[in-house]
Amino acid sequence: MEGSGVKVDTIYCGDACELLEQWAPGKVDLAFADPPYNIGYIYDKYQDDLPDQQYVAWCRRWMAGCQRVLKADGAFYIAIGDDFAADLRIVGRELGLHLRNWIIWHYTFGQNTRAKFARAHTHILYFTKHPDRFVFNDRLLRYPSARHTEYQDLRASPLGRLPDDVWDDFPRVCGTFRERAGFHGCQLPEALLTRIILASSNPGDVVLDPLLGSGTTAVVAKRLGRKYVGIDISEEYVGHARERLKQVRDESRAQPQGHRWPELHEDMLAQLYRETKVSAANLLPNEVALRVIAASLSARTGAQYDAGQVRERLQLLADKNKLPKLPNDTAFVARSHVKSEGKRYVRQVKRWEGRRGKAEESRGGARNAI
Ligand SMILES: C[S@@+](CC[C@H](N)C(=O)[O-])C[C@H]1O[C@@H](n2cnc3c(N)ncnc32)[C@H](O)[C@@H]1O
Repeated sequence: MEGSGVKVDTIYCGDACELLEQWAPGKVDLAFADPPYNIGYIYDKYQDDLPDQQYVAWCRRWMAGCQRVLKADGAFYIAIGDDFAADLRIVGRELGLHLRNWIIWHYTFGQNTRAKFARAHTHILYFTKHPDRFVFNDRLLRYPSARHTEYQDLRASPLGRLPDDVWDDFPRVCGTFRERAGFHGCQLPEALLTRIILASSNPGDVVLDPLLGSGTTAVVAKRLGRKYVGIDISEEYVGHARERLKQVRDESRAQPQGHRWPELHEDMLAQLYRETKVSAANLLPNEVALRVIAASLSARTGAQYDAGQVRERLQLLADKNKLPKLPNDTAFVARSHVKSEGKRYVRQVKRWEGRRGKAEESRGGARNAI
């Protein structure tokens, strides 16, 4: 970024608040930040248990830094947990940012709880610097609606529908995932950042993540042909993120070569499948839905795909067991609990019940003592 004191396609190791204050204003198109949530999580360098007011003051400082370096038509997304989402929304207002959406990212496999409902979501605050001047590439976000998938309705928009503000199509990065880098416990899914970067930037734009962690924002920005700038305070994370980035190419102009599809295009098709939420068995015969997927895939990738190619590739991915798992997408097969696996299950249930009984006894004891 000319004259800004910042080099693009660079990951800085340092304090985001200090660095952002030194950089020239108005150079960044999109900022994304996923701060520590002040819940006592263990990081390499950062202490995640500040007094509440101190935590909010710290967030205000890096938020003000991001707001300053954003261009006049820039966008700013912040992922944040329950405890401080409302505080950061207010800080955003005080800084003059405009809230366009308060997104809920709902993921499965929330942590188990006994005395309250399991927490299975993160808030994503989507702000823009200007109330009505901003980039929002709606064409790149669309997928088939129920009118396509349920009714094969030809009158429904052939471009598909936009996601709403509850996002339930991005599973958290599990241990078995190919994309898992394995050195940072808070790694966000690439598909989530893909939606945000596609929505709010264009190829060649500058994407900033001031609290970069494992490097996901920079990885996705690079794949999509954006320029990235990342900051993290941990030398260890920065070292790993730089290595992770070396494995990634700009695939924004990649085109299929016959039957060989760029990896980015296959990943985008898999994500469209997840967004459509219809199992392959029901989707493959549905020409109307496949046409919408082809239109959206073409918009997202810049290549030209038709419904036939999409059907063929989905079938191939299904045959190789590479399609994302959807709820209830496989036929039910009853298990015989007489067999050994059934006995093991019964033994496990007894063990759980035993443990639960003891826990309840001790809780009951404590209650009686009050
Ligand atoms: C929740 S993690 C980000 C995870 C990231 N979104 C990902 O996908 O991997 C927050 C990061 O902020 C970093 N951090 C904390 N304080 C910082 C500061 N003052 N400046 C820069 N980075 C900081 C931590 O080291 C941590 O890696």
